[in-house]
Amino acid sequence: MNVARVPKLSRPTGRVLTDEHVFLTGGTGFLGQAILERLLSSHPGTRITMLVRGKGSQDAAARVAGLLRKPVFSRWIESIGDEEARRQFMVRVHAHDGSLGQVGTLPTDIDVVLHSASTVSFDPPIDEAFDTNVGGAQSIYDALLATKSDPHVVHISTAYVGGVRKGIAPEGSLTHTVDWLAEYEAAKSARNRVELESRQPEALRRQLASARAQHGKTGPQAVAQFAESARADWVRERLVDYGRMRAESLGWTDVYTLTKAFGERVAEELWAGAGHRLSVVRPSIIESALHHPFPGWIDGFKVADPLIIAYGRGQLPDFPGLPDSILDVIPVDFVVNAALAVAAREARPGSAEYFHVSSGASNPLPFHRMYEHVNTYFTANPLPDEKGDIAVPLWRFPGGMRVEKALARRESQANRAEQIISRLPTTPRTRGWLDAVTSGQRSLKRLRAFTELYRAYVQTEIIFDDTNTRALLASLPEAVQQDEGFDVTEIDWERYFHDIHFPAVTTLTRAFSNRPAARTRATRMLPARTDVVAIFDLEGTVLESNLVKQYLLLWAGSVPRARVARDLGDFAFALPKYLRAERRDRGEFIRTFMRRYEGFKVGEIQRLVRGSFGRAMMRRALPDALRRVQDHRDAGHRTILVTGTIDLMVAPFLPYFDEVVAGRMHEKDGVLTGFLADPPLVDEARAAWLRHYAVKNGFDLDRSYGYGDSHADLVWLQLLGHPSAVNPDLNLYRHARAKHWNVLDWKRRPAASDTVGTDTIVPNITEGVGQPSQSRGASATSHGI
Ligand SMILES: NC(=O)c1ccc[n+]([C@@H]2O[C@H](COP(=O)([O-])OP(=O)(O)OC[C@H]3O[C@@H](n4cnc5c(N)ncnc54)[C@H](OP(=O)(O)O)[C@@H]3O)[C@@H](O)[C@H]2O)c1
Repeated sequence: MNVARVPKLSRPTGRVLTDEHVFLTGGTGFLGQAILERLLSSHPGTRITMLVRGKGSQDAAARVAGLLRKPVFSRWIESIGDEEARRQFMVRVHAHDGSLGQVGTLPTDIDVVLHSASTVSFDPPIDEAFDTNVGGAQSIYDALLATKSDPHVVHISTAYVGGVRKGIAPEGSLTHTVDWLAEYEAAKSARNRVELESRQPEALRRQLASARAQHGKTGPQAVAQFAESARADWVRERLVDYGRMRAESLGWTDVYTLTKAFGERVAEELWAGAGHRLSVVRPSIIESALHHPFPGWIDGFKVADPLIIAYGRGQLPDFPGLPDSILDVIPVDFVVNAALAVAAREARPGSAEYFHVSSGASNPLPFHRMYEHVNTYFTANPLPDEKGDIAVPLWRFPGGMRVEKALARRESQANRAEQIISRLPTTPRTRGWLDAVTSGQRSLKRLRAFTELYRAYVQTEIIFDDTNTRALLASLPEAVQQDEGFDVTEIDWERYFHDIHFPAVTTLTRAFSNRPAARTRATRMLPARTDVVAIFDLEGTVLESNLVKQYLLLWAGSVPRARVARDLGDFAFALPKYLRAERRDRGEFIRTFMRRYEGFKVGEIQRLVRGSFGRAMMRRALPDALRRVQDHRDAGHRTILVTGTIDLMVAPFLPYFDEVVAGRMHEKDGVLTGFLADPPLVDEARAAWLRHYAVKNGFDLDRSYGYGDSHADLVWLQLLGHPSAVNPDLNLYRHARAKHWNVLDWKRRPAASDTVGTDTIVPNITEGVGQPSQSRGASATSHGI
């Protein structure tokens, strides 16, 4: 390899790009968009070919054409007009369909390459990080070598590429002897090894047992799906761990900086080593623009922003950063200007030169100053939450070990609290507790992730030497220094953060937080359409009762005096068996419990359902539920009550729904045998029925609605576009919150109005089933498919 370590620019040459053909990778990203904009707006003679991959339904050309709608181009478009901007874009910008893995055949007349594409996540799985940042670089240089041309390559790296170290980091080739090719091979094979490991019977048994314990009630298919997704998560986490640990064991902060370091080696060996011109640009933490295209331009949240926003939201009570470490931030326009100046300079063939685009050496920002800026800003401009303005915490910088210990203690307290709450009965109060604990756990998880991810950036004692970059700036013509300069000493950090960067990132946050909450979405008007269904579960959702209470009601109305004591004793004896079955599988519980109806006369049940039993059921019907059913009917939706209960008992609900789908019991000579005629329509069986029903009757499930209360309802609810968890048990509640489903609290009617007939929604039920005036009425159908 012939890589010169050049501490100072041998020949600073102040040129600018004029009519070059530029090949740009990463042009759809944050830095890439800003580079493209600068080329278009300030270097009108240049042409740009962009390596872009198709995504979703968009091919590379469509993605490139769509870029023009991005805010980064707004000022340029304003300055030359829409039509001219579009014309120039068409003529000057071309999409090269490909990716870092498959670069394809490149044009042979490229003058300058700006290789910016990269994965910038700190902790991707090891193979993904290597494939993009090492294998990707390899493919780019191989494709360039195949053109037999000699462009000047500007390889965008990162200032943190030198790994964990203290003191001045020089602008030169990295001094390590790690065999990047061997590491790449090991990273590629890691996935195979981990995938194999994840399929070992012991590992599968553990995942299956845990999925069964948590989701057994939702059915066997769901258990298998949860187990498989837990396996895939485990594979990913393990590969992330492989990356993190390999990076640390080699002296780097994370797999991102490790692979960026190897990416530099690839460039040095394949490109400079083959006698070509190579410049390596190493920016520090890139944040919003100071001047161009306009102050505060940024494309989504960048490296330091999640930390800033988490602080503004009051989610970081303290932080393990070193208060006197330098937080090296650089505005994106400085990086663009420096990269283009580097690209235009006269580089020497067969050697590489390095440029730190950073602020720490010439205009340092200590971490405690940054903290003061953030604290002052959010104290003056607090972010809002549901309770009002968020008060930000005061950080004391107690040191990494103490933060770590406090964090571990709070994590174990939160986990214990969650275990206790999960065993309590579900009430609005326990759900509130669960919310508080879950939100606390989320904050702790966030704090842990931030602590691990940012440790290297806020505990670092490195200063990035910027001599080469300053020399290059000084060599530029005065006008270029003014318009496309990168003199970091001109940055007034207080003004930059208070007037430019914080407003830019908090505007993004406020835009996100203005989205309507799930609870308010539930109250929106229902759209009128006839191709949707609204499915309601019965027990716990429409009716504040369950199979056991229904049985006891019927039993009480029909049992001969002589059998009361014996029946009650038998019932009490069987209760633990029912509880065990209910915990395992809802279908098993129904099947076991319904055996109690053995010997009940059908005629007798019908008489009770028309009388006292029916009245008691309707007293327990939730008025909010019946109102919601009516709303759906008014909107033209087909309303269906689906229940694991048998048809004989749901007769009081027939008037309210277009259809009632219930189970049936086997009978002989008018007497129930205690066996079900069809399998109970719960969990996965209900999901299968629903899919079949929708296909057969032409309903669109993506636009349909579902209401259920129990974890066993999860599988069928998630088939619907608008699922709602009604008075949910804690497991369903947890899922609903995680997936942003509606969570509804439907209250039982107050005891004082415990008589039916006064509400227009609930009809008067005396002998026989009343019919609400606005209802069409249904007949109970069995669900056999
Ligand atoms: N952001 C920072 O603070 C920072 C700091 C120091 C150095 N850098 C360096 O600056 C460069 C740009 O970073 P950024 O912040 O602009 O990142 P970014 O916004 O995440 O953009 C990454 C770009 O790389 C492209 N890319 C990723 N994988 C690809 C693949 N397999 N094939 C083709 N294109 C691929 C992406 O294309 P898609 O749109 O198709 O995904 C996107 O255009 C990177 O080299 C990074 O290491 C960034």
